[in-house]
Amino acid sequence: MQNARFLVTGGSQGIGAALVELARQAGHQVVFTGRNERLIQSVAQRTGAHGLQADVSNPDDNARTVTECMDRMGGVDVLVNNAAYDYRAEIGALDVSKMRKLFDTNVFGLVDITNRVVPQMKAQASGDIVNIASTSGMKGAAASTPYGASKWAVRGITQCWQAELRPHGIRVVAVCPSEVQTSFGGKTGRNNPNKLFAEDIARTIMAALTMPRRALWPELAVFANNPWKEN
Ligand SMILES: NC(=O)c1ccc[n+]([C@@H]2O[C@H](COP(=O)([O-])OP(=O)(O)OC[C@H]3O[C@@H](n4cnc5c(N)ncnc54)[C@H](OP(=O)(O)O)[C@@H]3O)[C@@H](O)[C@H]2O)c1
Repeated sequence: MQNARFLVTGGSQGIGAALVELARQAGHQVVFTGRNERLIQSVAQRTGAHGLQADVSNPDDNARTVTECMDRMGGVDVLVNNAAYDYRAEIGALDVSKMRKLFDTNVFGLVDITNRVVPQMKAQASGDIVNIASTSGMKGAAASTPYGASKWAVRGITQCWQAELRPHGIRVVAVCPSEVQTSFGGKTGRNNPNKLFAEDIARTIMAALTMPRRALWPELAVFANNPWKEN
């Protein structure tokens, strides 16, 4: 894969930022989004990628993001739908309006931005769409109704898009990480060498993208091999 044009949602920190960095190191053009202007500027300066303040749950922001990709890069070859967040609540004490809001980002935002990119990918008969799901979308857990449901949805949507887009030369991959030591869910200070880091998931994504175009990995789950080890 040479000189590809990447659009990464949620590239201001965590897995998205690690992917922006790897893609830039490999010589690709990258536009990424996020909401935190300070973090966006920091990633942009460090990597040379173009950062945009854009909320994926806002259709106007998605329209602006795709226009910016057309203007700056002439299109998108690789769309990485990474932006998402967690809201945890047990049934019986769940705020449905908060769950709906989470779906606006984790599910409807992902669908909306992809809906805007796919016509151009179809026109060029080529493209890659990487949907970041989760092992939370493979196995239910307590307090995970909102987030788990959103990630099950992302896996189902990925399979629908595979059925629609494989005949157009477009690959769609779901990546399902287990726990990754980012700031996800407001966690801080995790630095266990035996658990996953953002870069591990970024490397998985790049591996899927660099497979020969005739090959498709439909879904990749990524676990730490021995997270129980103390040091
Ligand atoms: N960390 C884990 O254990 C884990 C495990 C499985 C799957 N995942 C998935 O991996 C992906 C990345 O998570 P992460 O661990 O890297 O989390 P993170 O460090 O919290 O980063 C999340 C990124 O998404 C962005 N974002 C969130 N909502 C957004 C919105 N509405 N519009 C635009 N950008 C938005 C954030 O931008 P701002 O900060 O600028 O708002 C940030 O750049 C997510 O899809 C998550 O569900 C994470």
